[in-house]
Amino acid sequence: MKTNKFAIFAVLLWVATALVFGWFFIKGNTTEIEGQRDAIVLLPAERELVLLEMRGLLGSTQGILAGLDKKDMKQVAQAARASGMASAADVNPALMAKLPMSFKELGMTVHHAMDEIAQDAETGKPSAEILNKLSNTLTSCVACHAAWQLKSE
Ligand code: HEC
Repeated sequence: MKTNKFAIFAVLLWVATALVFGWFFIKGNTTEIEGQRDAIVLLPAERELVLLEMRGLLGSTQGILAGLDKKDMKQVAQAARASGMASAADVNPALMAKLPMSFKELGMTVHHAMDEIAQDAETGKPSAEILNKLSNTLTSCVACHAAWQLKSE
């Protein structure tokens, strides 16, 4: 009987832990600022890492457009690949947990689209099609920037 109670307690504790972790995974470490974008609160080094990734995205966007302009599909592929899924793969779990779910989804959408653009350029898809995909992808950049800002702890 005693072990039974202990087992139930252990299961309840496990469920509670899972719920708390799940809540943080979805909500992230955020604060609300009245009338403004919600702020994601990160350590200074974590914020720098995300901003570095952002500057990478801007560099990729520039490289894709310059490549399309010169009809240099190799440059398009290289620039896009630099911001593909692989570029986001080494983000540590602690930082991942602080990022809200919708932020992670929008981020992954953009990285995934960059890989698609790289592949399209490699397989000789028409420029207009690639330009259309980039334009659609930039709506995710705009949507995320409208919703979130990053603050240092
Ligand atoms: C998942 C959300 C998200 C997506 C998607 C996203 N960004 Fe950002 N980006 C942010 C946030 C948040 C900031 C910080 C804004 C702030 O704190 O005011 C930022 C900052 C930046 C900065 C400033 C970097 C610095 O050093 O200060 C650049 C440039 C940038 N983003 C470019 C882009 C481009 C280009 C794309 C799309 C190809 C993109 N971002 C997609 C969320 C996102």
